[in-house]
Amino acid sequence: MVIMTTTSSLAFQPVLERIAEEMEHTPGRGRPADYIPALAARDPHSFGMAVAELDGTVYGVGDWREPFSTQSITKVFTLALDLAREGDALWEHVGREPSGNPFNSLVQLEYEHGIPRNPFINAGALVVTDRLQTRTGDASGELRAFLRAESGNPVLDFDAEVAASESAHGDRNAALAHFMASYGNIDNPVPALLDQYFRQCSLTASCADLALATTFLARHGIRADGTRLLTRSQAKQVNAVMLTCGTYDAAGEFAYRVGLPGKSGVGGGIIAVVPGRCTLCVWSPGLDERGNSVAGVAALDRFTTLTGLSVF
Ligand code: DON
Repeated sequence: MVIMTTTSSLAFQPVLERIAEEMEHTPGRGRPADYIPALAARDPHSFGMAVAELDGTVYGVGDWREPFSTQSITKVFTLALDLAREGDALWEHVGREPSGNPFNSLVQLEYEHGIPRNPFINAGALVVTDRLQTRTGDASGELRAFLRAESGNPVLDFDAEVAASESAHGDRNAALAHFMASYGNIDNPVPALLDQYFRQCSLTASCADLALATTFLARHGIRADGTRLLTRSQAKQVNAVMLTCGTYDAAGEFAYRVGLPGKSGVGGGIIAVVPGRCTLCVWSPGLDERGNSVAGVAALDRFTTLTGLSVF
């Protein structure tokens, strides 16, 4: 049953409350990521969800103001920040096709000569961060400044414990970076790049922060202060890559169930965009076997079903 098809902003709050209530009674929450010990301690029953409108009005439910580890969600923002600087030249170094493989997979890289399939698998995100580092001298600092400005949260920051934990368990990311460097597709020294990447992944933010920080993608590239980050066409491109690649080897299932551009992280967060209308962020730390939040996907599925808001 569709309970909201108007553009009335007030109708979001009851929809969120209904979804949170349903999630409380949904069994099977998945398991928090344990390959990074600092993430394993989160309670899988935590649940928060926020919707941000284009004017910055935010609605939320549950743990929507609770900070969590953003992880791979940051890959959307580094992509946008780099694309804004170098434009289409970026696509000579990273593709934009779904990989059909897990986010940390190595297998395609050798067949494809060190050019990762897309910017949202780890290999592709490392290329993007490397290029942003070359352009700015401090990729993670640029990312933090952008997220602070867009969310209006001046204390949003990295989590040094998570970054150290990632680094201590970072052999696979190191392997990806060295392998791509052997093809000439990484500019910076690998240890410096990994340091930037682990800091980036450790960024901590809430559903409210991330829903707000994503609104430039629903505003076709326009930032919260009215300046333009991306052209309308580039904003469309980022949304398209989110739709096709944002949830790794589950992107087809996510598009089928949710019908929105989305990006997940192993901290249990997912952001999603309704172009021209609003953005969403949902957080629940229990993951499925592909690294996507179980309750997060279910809640977004319910949101688009209840509201009729989807790109299809
Ligand atoms: O590279 C890693 O292993 C993590 N820090 C980020 C992974 C991640 O969030 C992938 N997502 N679902």
